[in-house]
Amino acid sequence: MSTALITGAARGLGAAIARQLSPTHDLILGGRGSDALDGIAAELGASTFTAELTDHDAVVAAAEGIDRLDVLVHNAGIGSSLRPVGETPADEWRRLLEVNLIAVAELTRVLLPALRAAGGHVVFINSGAGKRANPGWAAYAASKFGLRALADALRLEEPDLRVTSVFPGRIDTDMQRELIAIEGKDYDPTRFLAPTTVAAAVAQAVRTPADAHPTEIVLRPTGRR
Ligand SMILES: NC(=O)c1ccc[n+]([C@@H]2O[C@H](COP(=O)([O-])OP(=O)(O)OC[C@H]3O[C@@H](n4cnc5c(N)ncnc54)[C@H](OP(=O)(O)O)[C@@H]3O)[C@@H](O)[C@H]2O)c1
Repeated sequence: MSTALITGAARGLGAAIARQLSPTHDLILGGRGSDALDGIAAELGASTFTAELTDHDAVVAAAEGIDRLDVLVHNAGIGSSLRPVGETPADEWRRLLEVNLIAVAELTRVLLPALRAAGGHVVFINSGAGKRANPGWAAYAASKFGLRALADALRLEEPDLRVTSVFPGRIDTDMQRELIAIEGKDYDPTRFLAPTTVAAAVAQAVRTPADAHPTEIVLRPTGRR
């Protein structure tokens, strides 16, 4: 069976992706070490990749022994505090770029030999904000624009790998609940993409026959469920 590593797999979109890849892949579930991570690993018979992804030594240690990897899904990420540029301190820029971009580049670098060995597939969970920066979203959007650059360059540098960027609109997860609270709105999950819907698109990309390279997937919510 093929092997897939999914970061941020303890909850939200990452857990949904894990459940959808489980029938076809041996799973390695990334997380910071929690009961939720242990719970889903037990449910799916998966192993775990435990690391704070901004701790680069911990990432190298966790990756030890992974010599062959068919699928790497970069899903872990953090949301924005929705501040305009004039009120966004340097620490907020650094936090978003560190988690959503630099940690992703570093994990890719560390796992590239294993991906090359398998002729593997790297999936980047981007965002609608990776295509368009709205007011209040500059720092988050910059991290996701950067993630798109990382994916595009990797695709050209590593022609034997497949590299897919997924650009979903708002998804019904903890991250979205936090954003809606910051926006001071009522949370109506039916307005957002279901995590299972986005996960199904990721699974479809991964299962695409080898003659095709799914480079980008864009999903916008219809507001109907
Ligand atoms: N929700 C949306 O509306 C939306 C829309 C478009 C794109 N996205 C993207 O989709 C991806 C998943 O988001 P989500 O909505 O499922 O978010 P979520 O519910 O907040 O879950 C985020 C996951 O990322 C992990 N994570 C965050 N920072 C980490 C770090 N420094 N080291 C290791 N793990 C870390 C978290 O681990 P812990 O469980 O340990 O906290 C958690 O498992 C993100 O890349 C996000 O930008 C989300």
